[in-house]
Amino acid sequence: MSTEQKPAGCLGVAMKRKEDPRFIQGKGRYVDDISLPGMLYLSLVRSPYPHAEIKAIDIGDAMKVPGVVAVITGKDLEAAGLGWLPTFHGYDKQMVLAIGKVLFQYQEVAAVFAETRAAAADGAEAVQVEYAPLPVVADPFTAKRDETILRPDRDKKTNHIYHWEVGDKDKTARALANSPKKIKERIWFQRCHPAPLEPCGCVAQFDTMGRLQFYVTSQAPHVYRTALALVTGIPEDKIHVVSPDIGGGFGNKVPVYPGYVCAIVGALKIGRPVKWIETRTENLTSTGFARDYHMDVEIGATPDGRVTALHVATTADHGAFDAAADPTKYPAGMFGIVTGSYDFPTAHAEVDAYFTNKAPGGIAYRCSFRVTEASYAIERAMDILADELAIDPAELRRRNFVRKEQFPYPSSLGFTYDSGDYQKTLDVAMEKIGYRELLKEQAEKRARGELMGIGFSTFTEVVGAGPSKVFDILGIKMFDSAEIRIHPTGAGIVRAGTKSQGQGHETTWAQIVGEELGLDPQNIMVEEGDTDTAPYGLGTYASRSTPVAGGAIAMAARRVREKARKVAAHMLEAGEADVEWKDYKFQVKGVPARSVTMKEVAFAAYTNMAQIEPGLEASYYYDPPNMTFPSGAYVAVVDIDRETGEVKVRRFLAVDDCGIIINPLIVEGQIHGGLTEGFAIAFMQEIQYDKEGNNLNTNFTDYLIPTSLETPAWETEKTVTPSPHHPIGAKGVGESPNVGSPAAFVNAVIDALSPLGVRHIDMPITRDKVWRAIHQAEAMTT
Ligand code: CDP
Repeated sequence: MSTEQKPAGCLGVAMKRKEDPRFIQGKGRYVDDISLPGMLYLSLVRSPYPHAEIKAIDIGDAMKVPGVVAVITGKDLEAAGLGWLPTFHGYDKQMVLAIGKVLFQYQEVAAVFAETRAAAADGAEAVQVEYAPLPVVADPFTAKRDETILRPDRDKKTNHIYHWEVGDKDKTARALANSPKKIKERIWFQRCHPAPLEPCGCVAQFDTMGRLQFYVTSQAPHVYRTALALVTGIPEDKIHVVSPDIGGGFGNKVPVYPGYVCAIVGALKIGRPVKWIETRTENLTSTGFARDYHMDVEIGATPDGRVTALHVATTADHGAFDAAADPTKYPAGMFGIVTGSYDFPTAHAEVDAYFTNKAPGGIAYRCSFRVTEASYAIERAMDILADELAIDPAELRRRNFVRKEQFPYPSSLGFTYDSGDYQKTLDVAMEKIGYRELLKEQAEKRARGELMGIGFSTFTEVVGAGPSKVFDILGIKMFDSAEIRIHPTGAGIVRAGTKSQGQGHETTWAQIVGEELGLDPQNIMVEEGDTDTAPYGLGTYASRSTPVAGGAIAMAARRVREKARKVAAHMLEAGEADVEWKDYKFQVKGVPARSVTMKEVAFAAYTNMAQIEPGLEASYYYDPPNMTFPSGAYVAVVDIDRETGEVKVRRFLAVDDCGIIINPLIVEGQIHGGLTEGFAIAFMQEIQYDKEGNNLNTNFTDYLIPTSLETPAWETEKTVTPSPHHPIGAKGVGESPNVGSPAAFVNAVIDALSPLGVRHIDMPITRDKVWRAIHQAEAMTT
């Protein structure tokens, strides 16, 4: 039958992104592009105080501002039973608008609805709030003392939120006590913010049928639909959530924010659509921050550099509400990955979280739930140990790597790593960067008093939440889903429960379908983000899309293929068992000349069905058997100006292993983007608060975003160790560069400064911190 040539495979092909023509031409459709007849604008009144009693709110002047239609306060919402909203993992609740007191600077206090954006802002300015300041708790160590209880609304009258631990406490303590060598360091991963280019926003409308049409910047639209049904009592079929194009998310667009609830309440009460788009300052000061983990890391070792035990005790600053975005059973996320790529015979990790007068969050910023903090801690600590033992940091890592033959590897903190070849990845990195030559150059420079550093990070991630036996959000299991429909001409559509925010799903999901069905991915349309059409999924964050939804898409395609096999058997006049899928087409076993393509089968499925049910479509809800464990070996080379403290990143090489690669162009783009964010965190970014709880980084002049001028040129390389349990052997990659790179940068800086006796500097490593470290060291020696 078919004389067509075998189509080339679609995996590993650097296809250009199908979505880019739309974005490059400015034709994306974002929430702020949506304008509905009669639409009102919402502006929020925010607190100037980090902790204060609200004595009175006077809305009289605001209501007189031309164009202002309504003002609501926390008391109004409380009366309607909507005063509080549950936080992501369900252990705490958050005020929608302040009730009785404010708990952080820029907290939402009142909502103003007006005919225009400007009138809403003017109205918010005119709301008079009388505050009586209260004592401020600006850090978790002060919070620990419980002198001021921040959340008297809770049963537990303490600022302590939770204690979480994993591993063998006693065995680890004994092993540490008996270890001939030990290091201990407090390592802080500073508070930072995802700062997506498009801030958060929504448009809420109740249509003529009384159904909520909710357009929103959400990374997880189905979870929003369920959460809104639970919070508002609106039946779930009367809620339609649409996430149109999203300008970056990085975890920031996972939580449900007070502005969304206010927009919905306004739309319901006033009977007109309401738009809320936050400003950059609102985004930086009140939406989900990331990190803020103070980690006391202790490693025991033998004199020849074999690790014997790891203990990490973390004090976490969660801000005013416990809105950390973690799966229900993991209050400290995947922090148990803190043993990293190393074969620790025993380990114990514990996290204690506290309330402070800061914005709530603790979201998974380009990170699989606290993996970035864990990776940074272990990769910094391994360098400190190498320094203590006077062993080359690459060699120390090599001596302790989980070996290739140990996989599947049960870590002492409970994960079963699926696959990896850490030694090979490090070898590729050392070869490509020219480590020997760099060491020689460094020795020469040191002899001349110049400061040059080489820093490694050989991290392991855990991504793809996750297996339903342990992972859920608000009780909903963390599977993902796909529906595939192939049209008569061999084109098709795949719908998934994920939501791209720049990752290129419109291209890679089509490639998976193309690979599994032998069809042209250019003609496979991908649709996400509409809860009326997409199957239920848990959304896109934490590099879970490829490990979970990617698996669902491959499995749904295989179901389509099984249906197609029946049609092919009928067309080939052969028994089904005699028909095999080979070289991207169906053929009679052993008779390649008798074959049909999927395109031909698709047409027959609608025109020549014999006794077979018409159509060619399938769906699959994929519950992954395990997480995937991507890894990498990163190397940074830096030069430091001794006079000014300026650090120049001369080279940066990232060797990543994310298993089978769907699209190398997209993966490289993901790595470039993540490295740029890791660079910014290492050298530029911190959401700082002063002792009075004032946020000092409220816009992009104080919270720095790297431009092409500062950003180093990235070098990339790969190794491929397939995931044995994933349908196409792929692991996630989006988070890896952001997870792995901060430690490489910091290790390189400390390596450069080590001849001066500098052992650790907390991020961000600004020029003045480096200058001070150099001058303090010089002062000690003169
Ligand atoms: O969950 P998220 O989409 O943020 O992260 P991801 O699963 O790591 O995927 C990021 C992008 O890289 C997607 O377009 C993936 O399909 C693509 N990717 C790939 O081409 N090959 C891999 N092995 C992993 C991801």
